[in-house]
Amino acid sequence: MKPKIYISRKLPEPIVSRLAEVCEVKMWDKEEEPVPREILEKEIQDVDGLYCLLTETIDRPLLELGTRLKIVSNMAVGYNNIDVAAANEKGIMVTNTPGVLTETTADLTFALLMAASRRLVEASDYLREGNWKTWSPMQLTGQDIYGATLGIFGLGRIGEALARRASGFDMKVYYHNRSRKPEVEEQLGIEYVDKGKLLRKSDFVCVLMPFTPETKNYIGAEELSLMKPTAVLVNTARGGIVNEEALYQALIKGVIWGAGIDVFEEEPLRTDHPLLSLPNVVALPHIGSASVNTRLKMASLAAENLLQGLQGETPENLVK
Ligand code: DGY
Repeated sequence: MKPKIYISRKLPEPIVSRLAEVCEVKMWDKEEEPVPREILEKEIQDVDGLYCLLTETIDRPLLELGTRLKIVSNMAVGYNNIDVAAANEKGIMVTNTPGVLTETTADLTFALLMAASRRLVEASDYLREGNWKTWSPMQLTGQDIYGATLGIFGLGRIGEALARRASGFDMKVYYHNRSRKPEVEEQLGIEYVDKGKLLRKSDFVCVLMPFTPETKNYIGAEELSLMKPTAVLVNTARGGIVNEEALYQALIKGVIWGAGIDVFEEEPLRTDHPLLSLPNVVALPHIGSASVNTRLKMASLAAENLLQGLQGETPENLVK
């Protein structure tokens, strides 16, 4: 008998076909609407595997319902939406999709850094709204990127990929991470510094660490107060690492100069969120990994992870 799986969002057809070769597949058939919790609660009771997205909260009460559940495969590298400890207690495997989205997410992080520092969205709106009457010496002036100092919180795969991009802009790169990485320091010519020095010395501070209880509000009012008034903060990791109220206050008071934010404490972001009222914020709807190729690779890797688990193998991307 084929193992049964539930897929929590409509996936590209080839991925569904691949899964259907091995499994009996049921899928929430909408692309732009997350599966309602009560449907997930019902479906999880009857499956061996769950294929989910970061929009689903896979918590202990939900896992308790999955009495025959063997594996939860998350189509994301981040897995803060899943209670991994609860899953492991119940012998349920959890997998994620590292590696395949590294370069795409680093691209977006650098793009956001550039967009915020050179005011690209604001300048484009200025033109479209008919405000461009003449060229003027200080019109829409921003911050230089070339030769500036980049500070990276979290030197995982994406942090390293961002540091590689910075070398093309002749940037000095500082990083802060749970553990030092001397080989990477040597290879990329980057320097490990403490949290305070990174904040004080960087022109750009990029947040690329995982969201855990320890990193919640890692950047708050105190941290922002250490940054340069010309500095730009970029977060492409998870909302909640940066305290949004503190960020808003820092931006309106000129404590820092601007921000590029792809991830928010609550997603989707409500359109009346205070951050969206600020011209010095470039805000994006969580699109770090959103290139066609990368999203297909993530979808496919999540499928393979699921199949490995259901076929009695230890999945390559098992999260512990
Ligand atoms: C992830 O994978 O964790 C990203 O946030 C979405 O690509």
